[in-house]
Amino acid sequence: MSRPKITVVGAGNVGATTAQRIADKGLADVVLVDIIEGLPQGKALDMREAGPVTGSDVSVVGSNSYAETAGSQIAVITSGIARRPGMSRDDLLFTNMDIVSKVTRELVSHSPNCILIVVTNPLDAMTQLAYWVSGFPRERVVGMAGILDTARFRTFLSLELNVSIRDIQAWVLGGHGDTMVPLLSSTTVGGQPVAKLIPKDRLAQIVKRTQDGGAEIVNLLKTGSAYYAPSAAVVEMVESILFDQKRLLPCCAYLQGEYGIHDLFVGVPVKLGARGVEQILQFELSAEEQQALHKSAASVKELSDKMKEKAGGVPK
Ligand code: NAI
Ligand code: 2OP
Repeated sequence: MSRPKITVVGAGNVGATTAQRIADKGLADVVLVDIIEGLPQGKALDMREAGPVTGSDVSVVGSNSYAETAGSQIAVITSGIARRPGMSRDDLLFTNMDIVSKVTRELVSHSPNCILIVVTNPLDAMTQLAYWVSGFPRERVVGMAGILDTARFRTFLSLELNVSIRDIQAWVLGGHGDTMVPLLSSTTVGGQPVAKLIPKDRLAQIVKRTQDGGAEIVNLLKTGSAYYAPSAAVVEMVESILFDQKRLLPCCAYLQGEYGIHDLFVGVPVKLGARGVEQILQFELSAEEQQALHKSAASVKELSDKMKEKAGGVPK
C-alpha cells in the first residue's frame, strides 16, 4: 500500500517547518513547492537526509512545479508574503490574493480530490478565495488559525496560573485578526471556569495579549512572523484528517447560516475527519460573545468584498 501524499506550497518558514514536522512524524510522503529555484529542492533533500537519524522513511521532494504533487490527499497553502513590523495581516491582501489564486488552480488541477488547508494571511479571506477558486465543496476547504490563537491563549493562561497546558481547555473563534474571540464562557482550568481563577482585569490583559499574539512575535523577529506554533497547528489538522480522528478543533470554515453568519469563512468549532470539515459545532455563546463573533465576521466580510471588487465579481 502506498503512503498518503501531502503537498505543502511555500517552502518558507511555515511551509518548511510544516513539511519537517510531517516528515519527522512519518505521517506521509511530502512534496514541497516554491517559486524560488533550488529552495524547495534543497530543503527537501536536507529533510530527507534527516531520515536515517530520526528513523523516518517518508519521501520528501522539492519542486518548482506541480507534476510531483498529483494525487495529494491534503494540500497546505503557505505561499505568500508575511507581515513585517507595522503591517497588519490585511496589508497582505492583494499580493497574497494573486499568489493564492494561482496556487489553488494548480493544486486543484493536479489533485482534484484533495483537502485544502489554507495558512496564508489574511487567513479568513485567503481561505474564502481558495474556496471560490477551487470550486470544492465547503467540507474540503479549511483554514488554520483558531488552533494557533487558542494555543497562544492556553500558553498565557498556563504561565499565569503555573499549571500544565494539558489541563487548560479553551476556544478562540472568529477571524484571525484583532477581532478574534476568546470564549471565556467555555475556558476551563482543571474543569473550573477560568473567570473564577483569574481576576477580570487580568483576564482582559491575557485576552488582549492573545489577540496581539502574532504581532508580539513579529515585533521580536522583525523580519518575519511566527512559524513554530503555526506549523504545529497545521500538523494537528493534518493528523485529524489523515487518521480520521474527528477532532473538535477551532478552524476557519464556510458558514451557511451557522452562528447567524452567511456565506463567509470564519473561525468556528468544527469536527475534522477524513472528509474534511465534517460538522460545524453550534456552541451556545453568551450575548457578548455572539456580538463579538459578528463583529469579527464583519471585518472578514470587508476583505471578502474587496477581493470581489478587485476581481469584478466572485474570483474564479
Ligand atoms: P515566508 O516568507 O517564510 O515563506 C513564504 C514562501 O512562499 C516563500 O518561500 C516564497 O518564495 C513562497 N511563494 C511566494 N509566492 C509563491 C508562489 N506563487 N508559489 C509558491 N511559493 C510561493 O513566509 P511564512 O512565514 O512561511 O508565512 C507564509 C504565510 O503564512 C504568510 O502569509 C503569513 O502571514 C501566513 N501565516 C499565517 C498564520 C496563520 O495562523 N494562519 C501563521 C503564520 C503565518
Ligand atoms: C500569526 O498569528 C502571522 O498570522 C500569523 O503569527
